Amino acid sequence: MAKPSFLPLMFALLSATFGVILSAKYSNINIDQSVLLALKLDITHDPHNFLATNWSISTSVCNWIGVICGSKQHRITALDLSSMDLTGTIPSQLGNLSFLAWLDIGDNNFHGSLPIELADLHRLEYLNFGNNNLDGKIPYWLGYFAKLQSLYLYGNNFDGVIPFTLGNLSKLEMLNLGRNQISGRIPNSLFKCKELEFLSLYNNSLEGNVPTEIENLTLLNTLYLDGNYFKVVLLLFYAGDFDPLLLPEKNQFNKATKVGDPEHKVPHRKYI
Ligand SMILES: *[C@@H]1O[C@H](CO)[C@@H](O)[C@H](O)[C@H]1NC(C)=O
Ligand SMILES: *[C@@H]1O[C@H](CO)[C@@H](O)[C@H](O)[C@H]1NC(C)=O
Ligand SMILES: *[C@@H]1O[C@H](CO)[C@@H](O)[C@H](O)[C@H]1NC(C)=O
Ligand SMILES: *[C@@H]1O[C@H](CO)[C@@H](O)[C@H](O)[C@H]1NC(C)=O
Ligand SMILES: *[C@@H]1O[C@H](CO)[C@@H](O)[C@H](O)[C@H]1NC(C)=O
Repeated sequence: MAKPSFLPLMFALLSATFGVILSAKYSNINIDQSVLLALKLDITHDPHNFLATNWSISTSVCNWIGVICGSKQHRITALDLSSMDLTGTIPSQLGNLSFLAWLDIGDNNFHGSLPIELADLHRLEYLNFGNNNLDGKIPYWLGYFAKLQSLYLYGNNFDGVIPFTLGNLSKLEMLNLGRNQISGRIPNSLFKCKELEFLSLYNNSLEGNVPTEIENLTLLNTLYLDGNYFKVVLLLFYAGDFDPLLLPEKNQFNKATKVGDPEHKVPHRKYI
């Protein structure tokens, strides 16, 4: 009796086709170009004219200064605008750079807060906002970046606490949050980041104890905690190699090198 109706099938086919056409139209380099044009509009000062003429639609966005496109997808995979003396804000559209793995806008004068749309950049492996004038809380959604290896937010005006979601960053090797106004305690979740080699939290308003779980970070070779309000500082002495340039001048908490290395076992530990 029930003759299969042709109409719903037609409709399904049509909308599927239409959907494919739609996504083909928008899943291309034009999106990336419109994102960078939005970013250019949000840059109010470009004293060396890095972008003024170079970021022009007369050439492919892949030839623009600071831009690298992937050979496979022909989409932007890296954006490096570091040390260009740029002043501006970060537009929400930046979250549309779906293939971005490397984002470096360090050493500029970007201000304002980080738009939540950046949470979509789930391919990020390297993120540097260091040495700008960014403010607001350190976003919890940074914990969504499962591939993130380096996170640099130092030298800004970030406040609030270190979000516990950073403990999700299982690939994280480098974390620098120094020179901000971050308060509260170091969340224990941070010690789930087993790949951490470099941890710098200097010159903030952090307090409390430095949790002993820090010893779980067996790959950690540089720890920089000076200039905070830690009540009880766990003092660890290690006989090993470390980069002396990264150590603070009057640090009472220098930790260097390879807890996991049997040759360099912690000789002693003191609380002061
Ligand atoms: C933009 O800068 C890049 C990198 O310096 C350069 O290769 C390219 O030729 C420049 N394009 C224009 C239109 O100036
Ligand atoms: C880009 O992002 C903005 C804001 O997040 C959004 O409204 C817009 O639809 C996006 N544009 C494209 C072309 O994806
Ligand atoms: C991040 O970790 C928390 C627990 O620490 C978990 O509840 C949450 O689902 C995780 N989020 C992501 C995006 O992995
Ligand atoms: C640290 O390591 C100990 C011993 O392996 C483990 O019991 C504890 O859960 C770890 N803590 C964290 C925060 O990973
Ligand atoms: C940390 O703050 C102190 C006091 O303001 C300052 O002397 C020191 O240079 C700062 N450290 C760094 C590495 O900026």
